[in-house]
Amino acid sequence: MGDDRTMPVLLSGMQPSGDLMIGNLCGALRNWVKLQEEYDCLYCVVDMHAITVPQEPKLLRKRSLDFLCLYLAAGIDPERSTVFVQSHVSAHAELAWILGCHTYMGELSRMTQYKEKAGKQGKNIRAGLFFYPALMAADILLYGANLVPVGDDQRQHLELTRDVAQRFNRMYGETFVVPEPYFPEVGARIMSLTDPTSKMSKSSDNPKSYIALLDPPDVIRSKIRKAVTDSGTEVAFDPERRPAISNLMVLRSAFTGESMEEIREAYAGKGYGAYKEDLGEILVQELAPIQQRFRELREDKATLDRLMAEGAARAERRARKTIEKARRRIGFPARPVKHR
Ligand code: AMP
Ligand code: TRP
Repeated sequence: MGDDRTMPVLLSGMQPSGDLMIGNLCGALRNWVKLQEEYDCLYCVVDMHAITVPQEPKLLRKRSLDFLCLYLAAGIDPERSTVFVQSHVSAHAELAWILGCHTYMGELSRMTQYKEKAGKQGKNIRAGLFFYPALMAADILLYGANLVPVGDDQRQHLELTRDVAQRFNRMYGETFVVPEPYFPEVGARIMSLTDPTSKMSKSSDNPKSYIALLDPPDVIRSKIRKAVTDSGTEVAFDPERRPAISNLMVLRSAFTGESMEEIREAYAGKGYGAYKEDLGEILVQELAPIQQRFRELREDKATLDRLMAEGAARAERRARKTIEKARRRIGFPARPVKHR
């Protein structure tokens, strides 16, 4: 399955560099689930991207497996989609090198995410952090992805992927599919619980700023209770003047589907305390089935190993065609048969 379908190919991935949290669910994962209806999807846990900044090995391994299980628990269907861990498919590293040799220093230097992340790293910035867009391009081009759903912050990397693909095609003849960005029309942008002017982030140092998908019920309730609020008491949507309550309204709406007006009416005269109690409860209820499915799979090592092996094998098979073609194009001698 997967290889010979005629639906457009779509690929995305998330870095296991923090706890997968409700922002990732509302802004990415839920959408990925829906996209399975219309596209031939590949979803990967991009652990090779995560090591562009320091990681604790044990934690990285644990998170990579947690991410894979959370993708599945949230509704990614491993029969329909190709779900895998990036580092299991060595063609990613191989193509990244080839593409990196066709990417210019000037292009990489312009990446704003590099500048931001490098700024936070202080002295010993890893060369991989600079090279990272070549790896991301490899992820995408290996599978001939037509569409890549990403957030705004990845727009520049996708543009670079397109440029490098076009350059390569011009130099050596048609090799890669040039991907299109896909900006989903729905998907709320959730802000931090401790600072509603910055985006909720899985890599934040402060776990109180986000609700992890695996937070136990009591932790969820407590984090929502302690979320900062604006001065005032009225539950009304006004992101400029009341960013905190507005964010908590967006969050509720992302799970209940209610409009801001409906929420405002429901809480007229009730105040923030009551609002937060209910919101905590909604999140607990909504995350419960995901957490339940997660636990079942995470504790069933045999099934998890099987799914991981199947995903890797399927991805590997799909990647092979492209990597062999790219190798031929640039003039690498054919691989001796037993190494293919
Ligand atoms: P990141 O956690 O920044 O690696 O992003 C992984 C995916 O989750 C991307 O598709 C982001 O657009 C999405 N995402 C991350 N944070 C949020 C957020 N606070 N609200 C909505 N979507 C988010
Ligand atoms: N760079 C992306 C991020 O930080 C993750 C990513 C890696 C990705 N490879 C990808 C996203 C390929 C889409 C397609 O969020």
